[in-house]
Amino acid sequence: MTKQGTFTLKKSLIAMTFAAASSVANAGEVEVLHWWTSGGEAKSAAVLKQMLEQQGDSWKDFAVAGGGGESAMTVLKTRAVSGNPPSAAQIKGHDIQEWGDLGFLTSLDDVAEAGQWDKVLPAVVTKVMKYNGDYVAVPVNVHRVNWLWANPEVFKKAGATVPANMDEFFAAAEKIKAAGFVPLAHGGQPWQDATLFEAVALDILGSQDYNKAFVDLDMDVLSGPKMVETFATFQRMHDYIDENSPGRDWNIATSMVINGEAAMQIMGDWAKGEFAAAGKQPGKDYICAPAPGTANQFTFNIDSFAFFKLSNKDNEEAQKHLAKTILNKDFQEVFNLNKGSIPVRLDMNMDKFDKCALDSMATFKASAQTGDLVPSMAHGLATTSYVQGAVYDVVTNFFNDTSADPKQAAQQLARAVKAAM
Ligand code: GAL
Repeated sequence: MTKQGTFTLKKSLIAMTFAAASSVANAGEVEVLHWWTSGGEAKSAAVLKQMLEQQGDSWKDFAVAGGGGESAMTVLKTRAVSGNPPSAAQIKGHDIQEWGDLGFLTSLDDVAEAGQWDKVLPAVVTKVMKYNGDYVAVPVNVHRVNWLWANPEVFKKAGATVPANMDEFFAAAEKIKAAGFVPLAHGGQPWQDATLFEAVALDILGSQDYNKAFVDLDMDVLSGPKMVETFATFQRMHDYIDENSPGRDWNIATSMVINGEAAMQIMGDWAKGEFAAAGKQPGKDYICAPAPGTANQFTFNIDSFAFFKLSNKDNEEAQKHLAKTILNKDFQEVFNLNKGSIPVRLDMNMDKFDKCALDSMATFKASAQTGDLVPSMAHGLATTSYVQGAVYDVVTNFFNDTSADPKQAAQQLARAVKAAM
């Protein structure tokens, strides 16, 4: 090597050492609040942690167990009010606006501009992530909520076929019950009751009236005849769940389908993350089908992280690394393969995804054109947390009282929503 060469090498080594030292010195910490603690969820969250740590930052896990995130939101409020919010928190839909109103969130516009988020994300998503025109949250995925998960072995043993509509659902459920299996695996928790209820509402009301009820909060639709029918059908479903349902976690319900104790679960595609974590193959070990009667409809639930204002510069930097990583294509692929959702970027290669994910993507795109892409009420995408809470109360009380009157329930629903508006 020439003298000149040695000198250049030395110089670059010094530069590299300096860069490495400074990146360590600059490395910050992100504390991330989420509720991803089930098998598939935890595997997915681990991907984000790992990708962030690879960049030299550290991840402080702030996991609060409880599907649907109610407990996580309660804990988050306490932390934020005491002036010590985490760097990022899993906050969705309308809640992002509520946190923005309170002045807690920071702008991610520089990261968004560099990553061309406006271009790579669907408009239905970017709208939710912005507060006053600034990006304050980053979407992770798109979950379809109106899915039915079925165990084909159980169906075979019961001589039943996977239902495509409500009539078929009840016919199959009868056969499955008679064969000694639990027809519908369900966890009696308010958010799960609401998830089942909204799937029934989507079918019976249709997309347009679903939006009128849960987005526009139209009193006539909320208390009208189709809502009465929704409650009546929802009540019939109660006959096909088992008596140990109250309080059961959603992933335990999924495991009942996985191990052949139950035939079906109506749940968002985070359930697929549980099948995948258990090493099960779609089409062979389990079937994914649209919730009865909702084949061309898509109830969307978008997971996102909202970012809080911080005072530490290094942690602010780390926060930006996190925001950028979430929309990285490699992350989007691995995370969503584990989570059961589809990538939120529209420019992804979907080669590694299974048939359920491809169906989901196709229906996501098609339903956006037909008006059948609707926000999930049960998961905070349709309305405020106040209205959502009011719906939860009415729905859960109704479901737990098997002699409740559907007509009265619809009227109660309208009243409760009005009071929460
Ligand atoms: C939803 C969330 C999903 C999944 C589910 C069960 O609200 O969007 O990502 O985690 O709760 O915990």
